[in-house]
Amino acid sequence: MWDQRYNSEEYAYGTAPNSFLAQHADSLAGPVLSLAEGEGRNAVFLATLGLQVTGVDGSAVGLAKARKLAHSKGVTIETLVADLAHYEPPEECYRSVVSISAHLPGDVRARLYPLIERSLKPGGIFLLEEYTKDQIPRGTGGPRDPDRMTSSVDLENAFPNCDIVLSRQIEREVTEGIYHSGMASVVQFIAKKKA
Ligand SMILES: C[S@@+](CC[C@H](N)C(=O)[O-])C[C@H]1O[C@@H](n2cnc3c(N)ncnc32)[C@H](O)[C@@H]1O
Repeated sequence: MWDQRYNSEEYAYGTAPNSFLAQHADSLAGPVLSLAEGEGRNAVFLATLGLQVTGVDGSAVGLAKARKLAHSKGVTIETLVADLAHYEPPEECYRSVVSISAHLPGDVRARLYPLIERSLKPGGIFLLEEYTKDQIPRGTGGPRDPDRMTSSVDLENAFPNCDIVLSRQIEREVTEGIYHSGMASVVQFIAKKKA
């Protein structure tokens, strides 16, 4: 499904970074792991800030476009094709992990989140934004399956070895290519791994 969506000259979610990520980019340090990176807009943005970034995604087509976007901006990113249902990030390796609109099923999140926490160095940051269940009736983007939506409470419980820096569910206008367009219900989350 994702290879099909990305099999076009157009960038499905545009080439500008997610605005929540951009607003908080000054709190991130490299190396950065970007989960469900897709066509590269977020990894490439972080690379233009001088950060070393690895983008992981299940779509080889998306990551090929990510490398093309990086080349067009004169930066380099690392890419890794992997299924996040099985992926194991290296331990205490990253100073930041970001996850924008990943929308993984509940069982995949339950396996992956402890591994994300473990992959952060002490003091490292995890930053996430995605749609919540309240988004489903809006029709302005995101999956229709509530199992693919998380919440601020779920996230707070999933990172017991982190201090919560920001955790909220808000409504905001999202304009990201043709698939994310309009008022949206999102969860925004930033956690810092305890030293
Ligand atoms: C809505 S797109 C978001 C892409 C990117 N984060 C962005 O904001 O532009 C969701 C992405 O999650 C990826 N994805 C979904 N399930 C995955 C899985 N199990 N393993 C790896 N990637 C997955 C898809 O390939 C897709 O690129």
